[in-house]
Amino acid sequence: MNPQTKIAVVTGAGSGIGRAVALALAGAGWSVALAGRRTGPLEETAREAGSETMCVPADVSLPADVNALFTAVRERYGRLDLLFNNAGTFGPRGVPVEDIRYEEWRSVVDVNVTGSFLCAQAAFRQMKGQDPQGGRIINNGSISAHAPRPNSIAYTTTKHAMTGLTKSLSLDGRPYRIACGQIDIGNAATDMTERMQAGILQANGELMAEPVMDVRDVARTVLHMAELPLEANVQFATVLATTMPYIGRG
Ligand SMILES: NC(=O)c1ccc[n+]([C@@H]2O[C@H](COP(=O)([O-])OP(=O)(O)OC[C@H]3O[C@@H](n4cnc5c(N)ncnc54)[C@H](OP(=O)(O)O)[C@@H]3O)[C@@H](O)[C@H]2O)c1
Repeated sequence: MNPQTKIAVVTGAGSGIGRAVALALAGAGWSVALAGRRTGPLEETAREAGSETMCVPADVSLPADVNALFTAVRERYGRLDLLFNNAGTFGPRGVPVEDIRYEEWRSVVDVNVTGSFLCAQAAFRQMKGQDPQGGRIINNGSISAHAPRPNSIAYTTTKHAMTGLTKSLSLDGRPYRIACGQIDIGNAATDMTERMQAGILQANGELMAEPVMDVRDVARTVLHMAELPLEANVQFATVLATTMPYIGRG
């Protein structure tokens, strides 16, 4: 492997935004470790990338899986330049606050908050310890890190938590040349947003079909963030379907 080649871990790389970002990085010459729970979709991403990738089945909410993922990357590549901390789940759809079950709440927190923390911690340790020191973590937040949709308390809470994770990593990473930024996406066309086009509940109680954008436009933004020198950082990038209801109170 060319020693100049940059190494990335992408979680949730078997579908949607994670797959699009993995393909964009691979297309730009990065070696990419593809992580997610399901092997089949990861292998499909690897086939599409057609370049240097490795598939590592992992559940990001499990410390042992995360440890095995970052150990495998260290053993194969010897260093890590980028974590795209992307794996996430929306959780129960359309369930009012008073009806969310404890297990449903926990499953969203376990993946979106604990999973993101565990991956960031493992990446941080690797980046702090390697020579040359440093690297970049890009967290996948959301417009829900800014404002909620109706009946989305678990998702909205966890995506607001992502902003705290980003800010803490940014501050604590400074001495070690570890940069951390966050992308807040609104309505990229993926499995998660399929229902947007059919009609989704608005704050005024109406159902409305919402516009979506191509995931490749998200991927281009992440690639730009990833390829900046470590002395420069996109702290927060908000990328959304231009006419979606968000700005101007909808
Ligand atoms: N699409 C949008 O407009 C939008 C907007 C804002 C934020 N986001 C964020 O973007 C990220 C990706 O979402 P997406 O839209 O691309 O939807 P998606 O296609 O459903 O992607 C979610 C990915 O996360 C992985 N994942 C879920 N739980 C996991 C776990 N416990 N361990 C490892 N991987 C896990 C899934 O793979 P497995 O099932 O194989 O594990 C899947 O590849 C999420 O964090 C989401 O909140 C999306």
